Amino acid sequence: MVVLLATPFVAGQHADLLSQFSTAITPRTWDEAYVLAAPFVAQLSLTEKISLTTGTGIALGPCSGNVANIPRLNFRYLCLQDGPAGLRGVDLVTLFPAGITTGATWDRELLYLRSRAMGVENRLKGVNVALAPVGGAIGRAPAAGRGWESFGADPWLNGVANAESVRGLQDEGVVACAKHWIANEQEKYRLVIDSIAYGPIFKSLDSQVSQRALRELYEWPFFDAVQAGAGSVMCSYQRVNSEYACESATMIAQHLKGNSSTGGLGFRGFVMTDWFASAAPDLAATAGVDMVMPGDLGLTGIAAATKRASTGFNGTRLDEMAVRTLAAWFKMRQDEGRLGNISFSSWNPDSEFGAWVDRAYIGQINFHVPANPPLHAAISRRIAAEGTVLLKNTKGALPLGAGIKRVGIFGNDAGPITKDCGTFTICEEGTLVVGWGSGSGLIDHVVDPLSAITEHVSALSGSVDSVLDDYDYAGIRQKARDQDVCLAFINSRSGEGTNNVQGNQGDRNNITAWRDGDTLVRTVAGECANTIVVIHSVGAIIMEPWIEHPNVTAVVLANLPGQESGNSLVDVLWGATNPSGKLPYTIAKQEADYCCRVQYEWTGFFPEQKFDEALLIDYKWFDAKRIAPRFEFGFGLSYTNFTYGGTLGISTPKSLAATGFVDTVFTVTTQVTNSGDVAGKEVVQLYLSLPSAAPAGTPVRQLRGFEKVALQPRETKQVSFKVTRRDLSYWDETAKGWLALKGAYEISVGASSRDLLATANVVVS
Ligand code: BGC
Repeated sequence: MVVLLATPFVAGQHADLLSQFSTAITPRTWDEAYVLAAPFVAQLSLTEKISLTTGTGIALGPCSGNVANIPRLNFRYLCLQDGPAGLRGVDLVTLFPAGITTGATWDRELLYLRSRAMGVENRLKGVNVALAPVGGAIGRAPAAGRGWESFGADPWLNGVANAESVRGLQDEGVVACAKHWIANEQEKYRLVIDSIAYGPIFKSLDSQVSQRALRELYEWPFFDAVQAGAGSVMCSYQRVNSEYACESATMIAQHLKGNSSTGGLGFRGFVMTDWFASAAPDLAATAGVDMVMPGDLGLTGIAAATKRASTGFNGTRLDEMAVRTLAAWFKMRQDEGRLGNISFSSWNPDSEFGAWVDRAYIGQINFHVPANPPLHAAISRRIAAEGTVLLKNTKGALPLGAGIKRVGIFGNDAGPITKDCGTFTICEEGTLVVGWGSGSGLIDHVVDPLSAITEHVSALSGSVDSVLDDYDYAGIRQKARDQDVCLAFINSRSGEGTNNVQGNQGDRNNITAWRDGDTLVRTVAGECANTIVVIHSVGAIIMEPWIEHPNVTAVVLANLPGQESGNSLVDVLWGATNPSGKLPYTIAKQEADYCCRVQYEWTGFFPEQKFDEALLIDYKWFDAKRIAPRFEFGFGLSYTNFTYGGTLGISTPKSLAATGFVDTVFTVTTQVTNSGDVAGKEVVQLYLSLPSAAPAGTPVRQLRGFEKVALQPRETKQVSFKVTRRDLSYWDETAKGWLALKGAYEISVGASSRDLLATANVVVS
């Protein structure tokens, strides 16, 4: 039975958007899907079973991954397509805000809406499996290249986000693929073939991570994805505790698919390898992989198939692989013909005609089927605006008022993207809207900040002056004088390890602003008494060189906003949207303050990374080591003020003996009031500290609930949280199981991980 952990929301704050979708499908239960999949597989020949569990080869078909058809059974090619910010390498789709931006909204409904809209686009374009959402990299090291694809450096936040994302995609009948399983926390050394440039590396990076950290941190979001019914999971490139993640029976057969009685997630769908993650498909299959991607001449695909056929590869396992794959297909009712035709070529989006070698087809390969209705742009715009985090706002700088007529815009990040960034979005100049790599999307119709602001200011009869050359300091100084407001744009990029952008091979070399953004900000602020810094970034950047400059009146972290960038920024700057984003990660005063760094160097053939910090990533590290961050996890300002009721209402806890793992033990209730003059939204956060008997290494406190509340001026609302046994539990290394202690738990509710406004102890027996 599927248990939905995230409380299904009642369409509330975004009912205007939600009501525009047609009825969701009702996915079949896994039991129902297996009943249909088993007899289907029973009809298949050995060759057909093998082809169903292997891709057709890299770039040989239209999609990121392709599985051959079975014409005699009318079974169409399967199309597996990137990615987590919308369809990659495909035209007439929406480039949505990245995971990190959506995580910063802390809004379940927006998380769902983004994926639901993606579900529609994937369905219309004929995609069977969307390679999303991302629950890892979770952001252990702030410089790691792909942290922005997931939703923030906390497992609970990521768990909610993953569940909502899975539901959104699958409500449209598209199979979600939760990735990357597991402990895939950096780009460098992730893959042997990626690492050739670094010298003789014979195995990919080994993430050496404790069982406790695996269960409580890295696997946590996947648990939620599985509970929400995810049809597939992608295993990752690197090694985990000395085994390849895609060849590890411990990680796949036990942790992911195994029964909950032994701590497994009980996953019933299919596991695919990341692209070329296993060079030994039979080992992968034995470990529990059900589909080897991308399949390739002589490498992972045909060689594997031949081998399986000639050695009589374990028939039961092969049947199970095929059944699991088809079960996901039946579960999402793909047998009912709802998917459109596969109508694009993501390896070749610019050509009208070409070939799909895997199906011996030559002809038109891009059919330009529109899948991006205005509703999806509206969803993107709202997410980007409501995910914007206001970090500083002094002297009444924001929102901009009627008196602001002369606007200066500085920095290349404000401007248009003028070069073709290709299908992996390798953009080096222009405004930053998404990271690079398989998690990106086509830069097709991005609304850049300069254009949107110019249009808005012209309508207000104001003037805009700009200098887009980051290094034209004389020009910047000259134009920064005599403005009512100066907007200084800076950014920081990262992406997948396959590509190098300005010397950064996926991971960032450091976490300072690119193109000497610090000097840009200081130059602007040197002349302009009302300097507002706008940041587009994949993650944390160091702001110390200018954050306390008296002329820096406001700082707006706009994350990775996707195609509606400029529009959402105008919404925030001029106050049509009151910012309500909260940081989904910590911003430190210096990079050395974080728990973890990317493993940039390795001497030897088999690189390793010790996850010695175990559970203590991001704010948990700062709390444990008593380090003052610049801005803490969960922080974000508003144009209004919120006050919290001083006491917490707590229901009588149920006894642990009477509660199942996902059942509620007690509820916590509090009140929040909008004490300012404008409407706004507050993210009320609940943090929990385990009893003092909990083992060493337990975080000081951990996020265990949040609710986003919309409040009119002077309105008060009650907010309640359900705290489950899972929320109270830790992974006990000795008992090799989840354990919830009897004793006193401290509950804190507040506006961030450090702004805790009401606290209570709850004794659980
Ligand atoms: C990435 C995956 C992606 C796959 C297919 C890999 O390099 O790690 O996230 O889905 O390629 O493009």
